[in-house]
Amino acid sequence: MEKVFYITTPIYYVNAEPHLGHAYTTVVADFLARWHRLDGYQTFFLTGTDEHGETVFRAAERAGEDPKAFVDRVSERFRRAWELLGIAYDDFIRTTEERHKKVVQYVLQKVYEAGDIYYGEYEGLYCVSCERFYTEKELVEGLCPIHGRPVERRKEGNYFFRMEKYREWLLGYLEDHPDLIRPEGYRNEVLAMLAEPIGDLSISRPKARVPWGIPLPWDEDHVTYVWFDALLNYVSALGYPEGERFKTFWPHAWHLIGKDILKPHAVFWPTMLKAAGIPMYRHLNVGGFLLGPDGRKMSKTLGNVVDPFSLAERYGRDAVRYYLLREIPYGQDTPVSEAALRTRYQADLADDLGNLVQRTRAMLFRFAEGRIPKPVAGEELAQGTELAGRLRGLVRELKFHLALEEVMAYVKALNRYINEKRPWELYKEDKEAAQAVLYRVVEGLRIASILLTPAMPEKMAELRRALGLKEAARLEEAETWGLAEPLPLPEEAPVLFPKEAKASKESEEKMEQIGIEDFAKVELRVAEVVAAEKHPNADKLLVLRLSLGKEERTVVSGIAQWYRPEELVGKKVVLVANLKPAKLRGIESQGMILAAQEGEALALVTVEGEVPPGAVVK
Ligand code: MSP
Repeated sequence: MEKVFYITTPIYYVNAEPHLGHAYTTVVADFLARWHRLDGYQTFFLTGTDEHGETVFRAAERAGEDPKAFVDRVSERFRRAWELLGIAYDDFIRTTEERHKKVVQYVLQKVYEAGDIYYGEYEGLYCVSCERFYTEKELVEGLCPIHGRPVERRKEGNYFFRMEKYREWLLGYLEDHPDLIRPEGYRNEVLAMLAEPIGDLSISRPKARVPWGIPLPWDEDHVTYVWFDALLNYVSALGYPEGERFKTFWPHAWHLIGKDILKPHAVFWPTMLKAAGIPMYRHLNVGGFLLGPDGRKMSKTLGNVVDPFSLAERYGRDAVRYYLLREIPYGQDTPVSEAALRTRYQADLADDLGNLVQRTRAMLFRFAEGRIPKPVAGEELAQGTELAGRLRGLVRELKFHLALEEVMAYVKALNRYINEKRPWELYKEDKEAAQAVLYRVVEGLRIASILLTPAMPEKMAELRRALGLKEAARLEEAETWGLAEPLPLPEEAPVLFPKEAKASKESEEKMEQIGIEDFAKVELRVAEVVAAEKHPNADKLLVLRLSLGKEERTVVSGIAQWYRPEELVGKKVVLVANLKPAKLRGIESQGMILAAQEGEALALVTVEGEVPPGAVVK
């Protein structure tokens, strides 16, 4: 078998901040990548951000930012989140990159020339305020789910991809490859989708309505539909069509996704690949949802998100990784909470694993001169060397929670072994016997730490240092008993999982706090609205004329949904006065005004009392 592994996460929309739901899939991908690297696979791990399309474009508008500046900023937040969780990706793709656009246009042209793309008319239900189409199902009592206003039937010229043409082929492929989509429940869902006509797929939007996207190579007035664009990231990042990486890794591709994006990955993507003459991916692995405390899918819109930054700061990144992998049976919807994380942290990490390391170290200093005792031949503890093989099977079947459970059960067994053998008593009669007990425990810990490295890379490196062991280099080292060398232990070693989880030094440094001097860089001033009107080219934007006493400014703001121009005149608002000017739909905005937003509610920050326009806010 060729030992090559390619793992991908969905590329995340940059319209929202990363939350624990996004982090989960990325942690699973990182675990798999590290697992395979350790097991000697040539591995490539891809993640990135999805930056085109209507939703992102509207989010930028709402933020009152130029779309490019907006996507740059939010994409960076994802990178930072992954850094904080110790995600070691090999490549981070952004769909606004040239290398990606080129591939999208190449594939479009190819499919177009093959006759699988045609021009037609799309008819649907359109909300004028959202500037988007809705399906019947998405409406709430027949009204726009956001604005509660009636939608209208509208037609729009779109290009269509002949997806229906490939339905039979795809059904056949799924029948021949029963493990393509996993877990099986999701495969059955897809088979049900394919039992009826799937229709053709609209793959373009008129530029006049959605200017933010990749132009079709043969018709500049249309941009590519965000899914046709986004899915291609999986091959564009590998340098398709000619790249060496593409040739090496593509045949071994494992996609990880959440169940809400099953159809694009299980129906759009395979038919696109087929039409473009690209071989199929190897596995589509579908995860369930992380549920908030209210039992609903964790999402920004529902306001029930858990922030991975803050958890990682307080419990350490590896504890968050361990919790997600240990707690969630892959594929199933699972409630998550800080309380559950705390319980795992205390019981599994602090009491079982951390404590075992502490007491082992203490005993090595007392009964073995602070070094790993000499190897004792042939006395393996509880078949530790068989664990790796079992875990390989569990990981291949995506049963990460059971894999970790097995290792932790072994850790418990090591604790029990010490309790039974009582080396502190044994030492009085038979020094060597006591040392042999300790050697077996160290060996057990050496094996457990290798197997736990993909889940907790940093902590396991720390654990090994604390016991004078070398770094974990190969999974195979967990399959041989007796590799621990008789080396001295370091005098000092930090407690692995402190009982009172506090922010570690390192994460304190990484905490996103700013100093007063950073804040002082932002120049906030009171500004009075002297005139306001609708933006001529965008329904969501207002153009405001602001007085700062000595000078006037024009500011474009995405608040048209919440304020009528006439009600703004006379209000004293807060202006970020030293923001770089940016052009928004053709009008230069000289600064930005502050507003508070939560979900769909928005209110401008206004100033009460007698301060003149131009006054400094600090
Ligand atoms: N941009 C598309 C994916 C394009 S892939 C070619 C997208 N982005 S997303 O940011 O909205 O979602 C990305 C992934 O995060 C999805 O797989 C989604 O299922 C996952 N999750 C978002 N919230 C989640 C939970 N609460 N729980 C688990 N995963 C969730 O869709």
